Amino acid sequence: MTNHIKHLMAVFFLLGASATSGMDLTIKAPKTFAKIQPTMYGLFFEDINFAADGGLYAELVKNRSFEFDDPLMGWSQPHTDSNTLNLQSGHATPISSYAEGRYSTHLRIRVNNDKNYNIVNEGFRGIGVHKGKTYTFSLNAARTQGKLNKIIVRLIGSNKKIIAETTIAPISKQWQSYKTKLIASATDAKAELSLSFRGTGDIDIDMVSLFPVDTWKGRPGGLRKDLVELLDDLNPGFLRFPGGCIVEGRTLAQRYQWKKTVGDIDNRQILISRWNNELPHKPAPDYYQSFGLGFFEYFLLAEDLGAEPLPILNCGIACQFNTGEVVPLGELDPYVQDALDLIEFANGPVNTPWGRLRADMGHPKPFNLKMIGVGNEQWGPDYIDRLKAFKQVIEPQHPEITIVSGSGPFPDGRHFDYAMKALRKLDAKLIDEHYYKKAQWYLDNVTRYDDYDRNGPKVFVGEYAAQSVGVLSPDNKNNWETALAEAAFMTGLERNADIVTLTSYAPLLAHAEAWQWAPDMIWFDNLRAYGTPNYYVQKLFSNNKGTDLMTVLYKDHAVTGQNNLYSSAVKDSNAGQLIVKLVNIGKAELPVKLTFKDGELSGQGAVITLTSSSLSDVNSFTNPFNISPSEEKPLKFKSESVKINLSAHSVTIVRLGLFQG
Ligand code: AHR
Repeated sequence: MTNHIKHLMAVFFLLGASATSGMDLTIKAPKTFAKIQPTMYGLFFEDINFAADGGLYAELVKNRSFEFDDPLMGWSQPHTDSNTLNLQSGHATPISSYAEGRYSTHLRIRVNNDKNYNIVNEGFRGIGVHKGKTYTFSLNAARTQGKLNKIIVRLIGSNKKIIAETTIAPISKQWQSYKTKLIASATDAKAELSLSFRGTGDIDIDMVSLFPVDTWKGRPGGLRKDLVELLDDLNPGFLRFPGGCIVEGRTLAQRYQWKKTVGDIDNRQILISRWNNELPHKPAPDYYQSFGLGFFEYFLLAEDLGAEPLPILNCGIACQFNTGEVVPLGELDPYVQDALDLIEFANGPVNTPWGRLRADMGHPKPFNLKMIGVGNEQWGPDYIDRLKAFKQVIEPQHPEITIVSGSGPFPDGRHFDYAMKALRKLDAKLIDEHYYKKAQWYLDNVTRYDDYDRNGPKVFVGEYAAQSVGVLSPDNKNNWETALAEAAFMTGLERNADIVTLTSYAPLLAHAEAWQWAPDMIWFDNLRAYGTPNYYVQKLFSNNKGTDLMTVLYKDHAVTGQNNLYSSAVKDSNAGQLIVKLVNIGKAELPVKLTFKDGELSGQGAVITLTSSSLSDVNSFTNPFNISPSEEKPLKFKSESVKINLSAHSVTIVRLGLFQG
């Protein structure tokens, strides 16, 4: 498409076009048969915006192991009696010890006065509890001296009233785990956890934890059910984890190391999050990774969702927007070994060391890993050299694994061009592209892959999201304009599904009071969660991905913005349906006639519409379904054609039954 036409289309979009008399669209089988890969629409999970701790990982206590840089961050020692200083009633002292190559900290509590000492955890911007729901409280404790005989465990509501209470008798002088249950008598997004002590003496405590019993699949210490349900509804084809820049780390020492995230939860060493103070406009000094959601849990989640697991590993370069530290090639072996060991952890027999650990963690069956990402947004020759080193070792040993390579942080420019040329030379199989651009860019780039070389690497559109203001702006909104532009663009991805085999919106999750980056697909607070309009666009495409690529033509051309319309089509051989996606970005209703040329329609179908009157409309906690798909409306027609009026500013899914001979 010429720039002139693109410009006209841009003006059209901004001003809004007037109604046309209608468009005759023809749907055909493509010249070359292509399957839609089951991985076509997936999930990019990054631990950003409190997506893991404080989000998906349902732990409600922040800094449960007292290992933040400030060991008492998240904890307070209120004066329970205005005449009594804490030191008179008691006090908490962090105790650090060094064992097995690492420091660990626990809390020593000295109670001097039988009545007035307690410690309080504030949770992740509060502790969210639901009336009538049960919570499991646990801690490790050792009563080191004296006669401290009772810990009163309470949930305190934001009105300072007790909403749940139970007790623990810490009898043992040795470290021991204690567990009890609490039932909340009220719903509160900002409750606190209080531990009061009875008797006097010293007690050491660690791993103070509070979990809802009602987690995803009821797993103790598991994931937040409402959030996983939203993910599950997307029917994702893959789950990429754990990011994003989090993989790279600000320094190499702070990179994500998967081996430190598996095995016994108590022994997982916490790490400061790269997003802790990355963005000056959204500091989050209390953002750490407990790794309670670690690689085993990610694999399990992928399995639960029926999604292919796609772990991304550090390639020996720290984030190039930060220190950009590079591991000398001669010292890269441990990094490559991490990749080999990860393959063994995921797929190896239980008589291998890492396969054994997987089995010990409760999953003797392999996870059937097929893809592994090497590096995230690295650029330049340093990346290519390191990727080469990974490929040289992994590919001969594991031909069953596809290595995902990165093309850098931008979809064009010097770094991108260099990477694409070098990656093709390296015979890369699957290249990850990222684009965070304004809505107009997605419309201008709807034909991005139309002329892509069909004989080289496949494309993984690993991170994209239309920005209403601009990348990194805290004012970005998940509004209808961005979602509509993404939908238009996605028809371009789907039209090229022979070459674009994985796609994912990014980032996925954001805590409304603790986020760093916007826009995000799903927003949540301590009690609630909602899908944005962008979420519903992803859902419509993913739940209608079909099995075989088809072609939609208007006057013999692909539908890429003529009369403000964008379209793609697939066949679902299992359901015996033709599925047409139609995105009308214009201000006016648009009549279309769909004619199928390569088979017989059954005369029955269904239509689903996603629309909103204003491009600035959004969803919210109070109006979560403001922009959400309409109910499926049945469609009956007599001939080989069907007529439909597309609403202004709408995404329409048309399912047409096929006679299958
Ligand atoms: O999705 C947020 C960030 O954007 C990711 O961490 C990074 O890969 C990209 O720059």
